Amino acid sequence: MAPPLSQGAMEQLSKALHADLGLFLSSDRWRDLARQFNGLAKSHGFQDLSLCLRWLLTEIPAPKRLDIMARHFTIGETYFFRDREVFSLLEKQILPDCSRNSADISGGAIRIWSAGCSSGEEPYTMAIVAAEARRKGLASPVQIIASDINEEALEKAKRGVYRDWSFRNPPAGYTTPWFTAVGQNQSQIAAEIRSAVAFQRINLKAAHYPPPLDQMESLDVIFCRNVLMYFDQPQRDAIVRRFVQRLKPNGWLLVAPCEIPFIHHSKLRAEKVAGVSLFRAGPPEGTLSSSVQSLWPLSVAAGKPASLFLPTLPVSPASDSTPVSTQRMAEEGDELNGEEQWHALVAELDGGREVSKQAIEALAGLAKEWVEKGVYPRAEKSYRLLMAADKLNPDHYYRLAMLLLEGEQMLEGEKLLKKVLFLEPDHLLAHVQLAALSRRPQEVQRHVRNALALLAPLSADMELPDADGLNVATVRASLQHMKGGEHV
Ligand SMILES: C[S@@+](CC[C@H](N)C(=O)[O-])C[C@H]1O[C@@H](n2cnc3c(N)ncnc32)[C@H](O)[C@@H]1O
Repeated sequence: MAPPLSQGAMEQLSKALHADLGLFLSSDRWRDLARQFNGLAKSHGFQDLSLCLRWLLTEIPAPKRLDIMARHFTIGETYFFRDREVFSLLEKQILPDCSRNSADISGGAIRIWSAGCSSGEEPYTMAIVAAEARRKGLASPVQIIASDINEEALEKAKRGVYRDWSFRNPPAGYTTPWFTAVGQNQSQIAAEIRSAVAFQRINLKAAHYPPPLDQMESLDVIFCRNVLMYFDQPQRDAIVRRFVQRLKPNGWLLVAPCEIPFIHHSKLRAEKVAGVSLFRAGPPEGTLSSSVQSLWPLSVAAGKPASLFLPTLPVSPASDSTPVSTQRMAEEGDELNGEEQWHALVAELDGGREVSKQAIEALAGLAKEWVEKGVYPRAEKSYRLLMAADKLNPDHYYRLAMLLLEGEQMLEGEKLLKKVLFLEPDHLLAHVQLAALSRRPQEVQRHVRNALALLAPLSADMELPDADGLNVATVRASLQHMKGGEHV
């Protein structure tokens, strides 16, 4: 039997995977990696694993290496109607909403991207749902682009022939009209559905995508489900940034439930629609929507913050000096009093004198209002003053951290979260956020362990207060996922 790869060789392999595909495998997942590598070596006729690694990393052209790595190291688990409620939402709410939108904007088709589609079950499910919706009167045609890095999976997708196992969870009535049996335990998807999906090979890690996905602001919906979990946080952030650039205003982004805590972008707002947590592009219309407010960290009765997500803030934060925000506040009567009060409190706290508890509470209340109104410079200034005047209160540090992270000031945000834990080692949300943000696998695991321990006494179905319907089980599941090493 060939000797296994050394630690150093495994490290090289995992670095190459990260560099080429963006996939991140911590050392506790190297056992799986070694097994996958053995399969790769065998299928390319190598007995000696080190020789195979040298061949893979240094002797073949980069595109071929990418192809081989995608084939052997990605996980393509998928099936039709995976998460039925998501596809029910697509039919009942998303498609009609997009149809109204695209008629308003361009009169054109609804455009959906299935990013990381594996062997095609997800985009074909979308096509079936769209075909059903068209039959029931949906006005706009639907175009589906589906992409993956794995060429073999895409070939299978284009053939459209699936074993029964791919249909393990169909809603009643859907399978029959759209599939024809083509052999034992196999069915082919109808030509009408096949032709509704355009498959393309795309590496989500690449900074630029080919046409038509190079077009900005052209997509109504992006599904990227069970994909981001395989990346590290900087890669996820970069991919999500590219998604945001491509979504129309109010466009929809759907990820798997366990991936929700990984999404932080100031131009995405979190919503829960018909029981499905998802993201919409752009700022909420008018004031912050109630769902967005519910994601903002608030203190609960026990004195612990409750939100599990970074706050979702309106796009283009109003600057402190913009006439628009001043005018808007002036129009809002009472708000002017708030503004005057804020200046007075700032002067009081800025003076370096000892300040009263009431002044601190009042400024903390106003800071929250500035956040809700999108006047971030004032919110930031308030929190900095609060941190100086009320040094031992972790809440100010946490809220400022959230604000900075939203503004993509990741390093300072992370530093502040660490201070939160210095002041309050059992701060659940700081652990959850740091688990998602930390670069070092050991750190991620430490925060995951701590967050899981804090969740342990809570019952699984308990909804976490102000966490947009997220319950303990969901949060636990995403932490477990990270614990399994898929995050790191
Ligand atoms: C578990 S499947 C998800 C399939 C489908 N979205 C679902 O939820 O059922 C993950 C897919 O992500 C793809 N993937 C992994 N890294 C990728 C990358 N860098 N670019 C594009 N796709 C990638 C894999 O090839 C795999 O097919």
